[in-house]
Amino acid sequence: MQNNYIETKRLILRPLILDDANAVFEWAGDPVVNRYMPYPLHQSVHQAEEWIRSLGDKNEFCFCLKDSGKVIGSGSITYDEKYGAYELGYNLNRQYWRMGYATEVSKALIQWAYQNIGARDFFARHANTNEASGNVLKKCGFQFAHYGQYSKYDNSEIFEASYYTLHLD
Ligand SMILES: CC(C)(COP(=O)(O)OP(=O)(O)OC[C@H]1O[C@@H](n2cnc3c(N)ncnc32)[C@H](O)[C@@H]1OP(=O)(O)O)[C@@H](O)C(=O)NCCC(=O)NCCS
Repeated sequence: MQNNYIETKRLILRPLILDDANAVFEWAGDPVVNRYMPYPLHQSVHQAEEWIRSLGDKNEFCFCLKDSGKVIGSGSITYDEKYGAYELGYNLNRQYWRMGYATEVSKALIQWAYQNIGARDFFARHANTNEASGNVLKKCGFQFAHYGQYSKYDNSEIFEASYYTLHLD
């Protein structure tokens, strides 16, 4: 059976439960966090609950601080047929930016996927103006592959983006 509990130095990563909805809304309802995310800005805690319900068996993890139990963000590792690789994605509550958390969880998610679901090839993309995300990827060993684009799910905005890949033997 798949082990969906990950421990890092400062965090526990685990699947989301409905009780996390208030914490999710803190970032999913924040326009600054949502700026480069494809999903629509959440308008209510109810919308966060609906999102959690929709996750099913997707490899989406929330990030909980060990010292307080506070849920500060979430991220996913999702297989993409088109790329033949696992896409890494993440977003964090703005109060917890620039403390190394995204790098810590990304490294842990990659290691988890390597050990538990046989992932060897990974990719990620970031809007060219989202420098923070690019820095996280580089710190995790990703290398620039090519330029491209992605859009919000509702097609309201198209982003010029950089695509990165990582291969592990
Ligand atoms: C992108 C995001 C997850 C980064 O999280 P974080 O926890 O602040 O990242 P880290 O602290 O691990 O920082 C990684 C590196 O990026 C740098 N960095 C962080 N924020 C930065 C910023 N705004 N501009 C430039 N560099 C930045 C850090 O300094 C660090 O490098 P260093 O160790 O050499 O100093 C966070 O900003 C976020 O949630 N943004 C909104 C959602 C989003 O855009 N997700 C990605 C979509 S592709």
